Amino acid sequence: MSDIEIYDIIKILHIIGVISWMAGLLYLPRIYVYHCKVAIGSEADKIFQEMERKLLRFIMNPAMIATFLLGFYMAIQIGLQGSYWLHLKIFLVLILAGFHGALSKWRKNFASGKNTRSEKFYRIINEVPTLLMIVIVTLVILKP
Ligand code: HEM
Repeated sequence: MSDIEIYDIIKILHIIGVISWMAGLLYLPRIYVYHCKVAIGSEADKIFQEMERKLLRFIMNPAMIATFLLGFYMAIQIGLQGSYWLHLKIFLVLILAGFHGALSKWRKNFASGKNTRSEKFYRIINEVPTLLMIVIVTLVILKP
């Protein structure tokens, strides 16, 4: 198989990784919005905790790692020199990863019954991955 074909396969897997990771980044804060409304220790609380734990562990964490590894493979192939769009993209993706880290921390707060943040807070921060996604996808398509 030539290098070009391998590169294309890596790109396909990268996009599948991106879709899976983004699905979690967009959905997990939504679950937190609903989770805020239920009593600590209730049956609903336990169900939300389970949903959040599984979403992070089985979808978001592996998808983020795959997106990074496959993305960096392609970045090395095309070279970082002169690709300013790629520098900016990596910077924005690191913010996205920071957001992922924050979601992970907030999940632990819910799991120990120590969430102090409001429903409104989670509603607002839900827009962060949306905005970053719009800019990142525009960057990879236009490559300014
Ligand atoms: C550290 C993380 C990442 C790195 C290093 C990275 C790097 C790359 C590279 C080098 C390409 C190939 C571009 C080309 O062949 O012209 C690519 C393609 C792409 N990336 Fe990423 N990426 C990362 C994360 C993301 C994220 C988080 C998103 C979306 C939110 C994303 C969306 C895309 C899309 C849609 C393409 C296909 C563009 C095209 O070639 O038409 N990437 N990425």
